[in-house]
Amino acid sequence: MTDRLAAVVLAAGKGTRMKSDLPKVLHRVAGKPMIEWVLDAAGTLGADPVVVVTAPDQDAVRAAISGRATTAIQEQALGTADAVKPARDALASIAATGGTVLVLYGDTPMMTPATLARMVEARNGKENPAVVVLGFEPDDPALYGRLVLGADHSLERIVETRDAGPVERDIGLCNGGVMAIDASVLFEMLDAIGNTNVKSEFYLTDIVGIARAAGRRCAVVICDTIETMGVDSRAGLATAEAAMQARLRATAMDNGTTLTAPETVFLCHDTKLGRDVTVHPHVVFGAGVSVEDGAEIRSFSHLEGARVAAGAIVGPYARLRPGADIGAGAHIGNFVEIKNAVIEPGAKANHLSYVGDARVGAKANIGAGTITCNYDGFAKHHTDIGAGAFIGSNTALVAPVTVGDGAIVGAGSVVTKDVPADALAVVRGAEKVIPGGAVRFRASRAKPGKG
Ligand code: UD1
Ligand code: MG
Repeated sequence: MTDRLAAVVLAAGKGTRMKSDLPKVLHRVAGKPMIEWVLDAAGTLGADPVVVVTAPDQDAVRAAISGRATTAIQEQALGTADAVKPARDALASIAATGGTVLVLYGDTPMMTPATLARMVEARNGKENPAVVVLGFEPDDPALYGRLVLGADHSLERIVETRDAGPVERDIGLCNGGVMAIDASVLFEMLDAIGNTNVKSEFYLTDIVGIARAAGRRCAVVICDTIETMGVDSRAGLATAEAAMQARLRATAMDNGTTLTAPETVFLCHDTKLGRDVTVHPHVVFGAGVSVEDGAEIRSFSHLEGARVAAGAIVGPYARLRPGADIGAGAHIGNFVEIKNAVIEPGAKANHLSYVGDARVGAKANIGAGTITCNYDGFAKHHTDIGAGAFIGSNTALVAPVTVGDGAIVGAGSVVTKDVPADALAVVRGAEKVIPGGAVRFRASRAKPGKG
């Protein structure tokens, strides 16, 4: 026996109940397609090859995972045993040398590498079980296969609910779906599975009875119900999302991030939160965000593709879009949108601004209502603001344009020409003040006959 490991991921099911043009396994949980959660778990264990079995019309799935896994096609959905067979060629090598083949489902994003590792460990145990089945004890066994144990607590067989008698239906221990199977006998056991059952399907679950009849042992590894959660519908997708969010929040807090109201913070699979980061209630993280130590994300902010350096403060009500790079100690305040812009350490944009395709130098101050006019209807242009510059409120910076280090731009300016370092630029109409003019104006309005 070798400890080689391969995996087959079943993804050929129709997913009809999703009522979607997107194949079921490409629906996302915490921003990552379900099938990628499964591939990542298999990858963590070093499974090689990983073979994803799809239906013939699932080009989108094959495209999405190309380079990550081998694919095989199940021509017709004839059951879970039939679904493993298309992987035969890809698994020829491990079948010859021996090892373990994990069978996984592409629609179970909550499955953890730790549980799979326990299954592989059980497979490699001294009793050399031919099949290790993942068991769980749901509140309602519903339509799950029931695990029938022998007197020695080893696994005797699996009975699908529809084929079970009343005694078997009373069994609370159910089949979670994942199996770890002896590669050297996998395909001969699959070939022995028939379809004489209520659904006329080739049940992978029959493999246990077949292994037992050949004198081999089978074993069960038990996991939390949540890990076996399969998604069949939009409601199921929302349930999986909630479970994944709970897991991501718990991990973030374990790693030293404060989430004041964790249930209101939405994380992405790749959100990186440093030590002593505080995330206030109602914050949403899209893909590709990292927040470094001690930074604070205040309520109602939305971040995506952004980095927030140590000690920076973002929000409340801030929007960081892809390419926002907020330097150490910088402040991004309410109703400020940053896109593809480097905000250098200590710079501030505290109110009502749009900063896009720009650099804001260290300790520069961006006044309320400042807008970088980065788009002329054809192309995007860059705005460069030097260190220590002061941009007065309600300034429009018409890119491409540069404001030098230490320069000051007066409030209400429309800046179209570069402002040199330490210069003062004011671009607005001169203010005209007429003493007593307001009094005369009111008097003119009060004259009879005038409207
Ligand atoms: C299966 C198990 C059941 C277990 C349950 C756990 C069998 C016969 N039954 O039942 O014991 O409790 O999972 O969720 O295995 N698939 C294919 N091709 C097919 C059929 C299925 O790729 O021809 C894929 C599906 O896309 C799905 C997975 O296999 O990802 C499981 O199939 P599903 O029909 O959901 O099996 P269950 O009836 O739920
Ligand atoms: Mg199912």
